[in-house]
Formats: sequence, structure tokens, C-alpha cells
Amino acid sequence: STVYLNNQFIPSDEARISPMDRGFLFGEGIYEVIPSYDGQFIGLQQHLDRLLDGLNALAISAPLNNQQWIDLCKKLLASNQGQDLAVYIQVTRGSGPTRQHAYPENSTPTVFAFAFEIPAQPIADKNSAVTYKVSSQQDLRWKRCQIKSTSLLGNVLHYQQGIDEGNKETILFNTKDELTEASSSNVFIVKGNTIMTPPLDNQILPGITRHILLAVLREHSQFNIEERVISYQEVINADEVWLTSSTKEIAPVIQLGEHTIASGEVGDVWLHAQTLFSKYKY
Ligand code: PDD
Repeated sequence: STVYLNNQFIPSDEARISPMDRGFLFGEGIYEVIPSYDGQFIGLQQHLDRLLDGLNALAISAPLNNQQWIDLCKKLLASNQGQDLAVYIQVTRGSGPTRQHAYPENSTPTVFAFAFEIPAQPIADKNSAVTYKVSSQQDLRWKRCQIKSTSLLGNVLHYQQGIDEGNKETILFNTKDELTEASSSNVFIVKGNTIMTPPLDNQILPGITRHILLAVLREHSQFNIEERVISYQEVINADEVWLTSSTKEIAPVIQLGEHTIASGEVGDVWLHAQTLFSKYKY
């Protein structure tokens, strides 16, 4: 496949990065995963805005301007095979003269991007919905989860623990037993006429799928939409639980640990939400 590395489009097996790169030494970088279906990106500008927020948080000056990022994303779609591709972008601080914690005086950021195939956009249909059984764990990551950092060890450990328990994701709760997010997704719950998701703070990533879904539901549905603290008890007693992320859109959770969610079937509200999400582009 063709990848992008520091201003060049090259075959992936020719890409070379220094082991002194601070992305390698410290996990000091920001990334994005931007989905596309049939050549159309979902939330492209919002992903690029979040990338910039992350770079600002790390005081890395943006190596490309907005139009250059857009061109890069389009070019990766054009130069790779596949109907439905996500573009992965990673920016690290680059390398310094030696391994030292302090930011080096003048380093050149490393920009790496490639495209990879993702599942087709979910069809709003109960029978073909990809359902999730998930683990439940105490959130043991760090306190800056709003930064989309490439340092994903905490997330990977949670995710793998879920896999080891025979599940496909892990939903996380803080020490007060409040829902934060999942190891690679945001979480929504439905109870009666209300659709809820935790508020944006340092405990969760401000997901683009979360953002678009909230906007679509507020504009086009009759449900009450709440961003508020959600307890573990509320999750296990919910009518529906969903995961959201760029590579899965809205995915119904049918089991959390030992607890079956409602009847263990895909819910009507999921069907409504995925129908609206597929219809409206933001
Ligand atoms: N993960 N929370 C976490 C911890 C995530 O890693 C992700 C995305 C999300 C959902 O964000 P968005 O809707 O913007 O994709 C929430 C990406 C897809 C990944 O790491 O592969």
C-alpha cells in the first residue's frame, strides 16, 4: 500500500522513522482515524480540528495547513484500493539529539498517514447489526483522556483484557462507579424516552461520532438528549447501550459482564439512531 511520510507518498515497506523519534521513545504524538464510505469522508473537518487541538496541547506546531490535510486525506483514498477506507494520521514531535524528557529546542514533527479498510457503513437493520458483548472494568488510564494521544497502553491493556474474557470491547467506570467510555469507543445509554452519554471532560475522548450523533438526534428525533454523569447501575439497567466510534458508527451492546442488557436484543432506538445517522451528514 501507499503511505505518506514527511511530504512523500511511498510504498509502506520503504517508510523509515528514526528510533530517536519521540513518538517511539515517549509515545509523544497525536493521531486521528477518519472514516470514509465510497470515497466520502464522515466528519473530516471535525477530525482535523481535533487533530489541531491535540497538537496545541502538546505545543507541536501544525506541520500542514487545513487544505493540505484535506488534500493528503483525499490523495490517500485515491492511491489505495478499497471501497471503505479510514485514513490514519499520526503526528509526533520528531526526534531530539538524545533521549531527554524536555522538549528539544527545535525538532521537526514526523507526519505519518496511511489508509486502511474498514467494515462497510452499518445498515440500519436489526438483523445485520454487529452486536457487542463487552467487559466492565475500572478505568485505570490517565487523567488526560481528552487528548487523542498515541500513548495508548492504558487503552490497549483494557481492550485486551476484554478480548481475554471473550468479549469485543471493555466499558470503563471511574472510582465513583460512573461511566467514562470504552477502551476505543464512546458509550451511550437509552432509558425510556431519554438518550444519555457522559459529559465532555478529562475522562473521555470528545468523539466525533459522539458529536455527530448528538447533533443528529437533537435536530431530528423526539428523544430527550442528555450529556450527564451516568452510574454503573444505570448502565446495567438501561433499555439499550451503544458504543460509538469512527470505525463502527453506532453499535448495540447486548451484554456487559454478567449482565444482559434488557432482553439482549438489538433495540428500536438503535434502529432509529442508526437510520438518522446514515441519512444526515454533518
Ligand atoms: N478510537 N474513545 C476512545 C478512547 C477512542 O479511542 C475512540 C476512537 C473513541 C471514539 O472517537 P471517534 O468517534 O472520534 O472515532 C472514543 C479510534 C477509532 C481508534 O483508536 O482506532
